[in-house]
Amino acid sequence: MITKYHMPVDIHFEIGCLKELGGFLSPSDRVLLVTDPGLRAVGLVERVEGVITPTGADHLVYDAVSPNPDAPLVEQAMETVRDYRPTKVVALGGGSSIDTAKVLAALATNEGPLVDYQWNGKPFSQTALPLIAIPTTAGTGSEVTMCAVIVDRNCKKGINSPALFPAVALVDAELMASLPLYLTATTGMDALSHAVEAYVGKGANPITDAMAQEAIRLIGGALWRVCADGKDLEARRDMAMGSVLAGVAMDQAGLGLVHSLSSPLCTFFHMAHGEANAVLLKYCMDFNLMARPERFAHIAALLGENTAGMHPYQAAQASVRAVERLFDETGVRVPFASFGMKESDAELVASNLPGFLLANNPRAISQKQCEKLYLEILADQTR
Ligand SMILES: [Fe+2]
Repeated sequence: MITKYHMPVDIHFEIGCLKELGGFLSPSDRVLLVTDPGLRAVGLVERVEGVITPTGADHLVYDAVSPNPDAPLVEQAMETVRDYRPTKVVALGGGSSIDTAKVLAALATNEGPLVDYQWNGKPFSQTALPLIAIPTTAGTGSEVTMCAVIVDRNCKKGINSPALFPAVALVDAELMASLPLYLTATTGMDALSHAVEAYVGKGANPITDAMAQEAIRLIGGALWRVCADGKDLEARRDMAMGSVLAGVAMDQAGLGLVHSLSSPLCTFFHMAHGEANAVLLKYCMDFNLMARPERFAHIAALLGENTAGMHPYQAAQASVRAVERLFDETGVRVPFASFGMKESDAELVASNLPGFLLANNPRAISQKQCEKLYLEILADQTR
């Protein structure tokens, strides 16, 4: 086992810590605030501007980020970067805004287009602009990772580089209190999938295990509570910490089958990342049980299942039921059939999987098995 751990993000985690943003800015700064139109609509962009303005720093809002951001969006946003010449970047939002901001901060100081750096492309040779990430979902954990995912021609292409680590993460769970129920539930399931995949994957190590287990415990105890009452700040804080811990764990340990199968569902059928993973998680856990039964049994216990006296494999199976129950308790249903995937699409979808994620999966799986799994999920979801 080779264990390496590198995580340089300065994490500030407290209710109300948004106000600390001002301490990272100076009057000479030109701040590009990267976000999405939904957050302007609910007033969060104005709240952040209200912290930036008193510092004397100039700022410009780029609020055109959309779910599953793609290469054309990054190219368009880079025109703004070239015109405005920011000295710092602030990301406000979920993974789409934070990932877009990471790429903009790196491309601002490095020559060449995005495509040069995606998927085993050239490394960033220059330090990126300082990025301050302010998550508004407890989901992607992007505020603490060195990864950014940008879609390019129906393919989600990640960039992994230490240059993409935000300088600062301001994790203020109060900013998550206005997140609608559907996004709360599905992004929360994404965070859970990070923790589960990090814990059972081949890249797991004692450092990531500690974080992944605590993330599973926190999310298991808080997801239904934030869905019952979005203003429950204690539960929002537990979800935010679960998301941060799961994010660090997955960044270091890697992901697996869930994130591999979800990738083409997002690009071909325009599912949001969280809703795809919310559907896929239990099926992928069930497929993987035989590879790490003792770990899945522990996941069951972390999610509150009483596994005393059970045969180890039965205890492992209880983890699948626990995840199913956890999502049921949110009251949210993902309308999988409405995204338009048909049986005849399974072969195409299974031929567009990110192989490096499958390589980290605890159980080997062929393209044909992935196709079969898609068909089983489709049949089960449309029953
Ligand atoms: Fe994810």
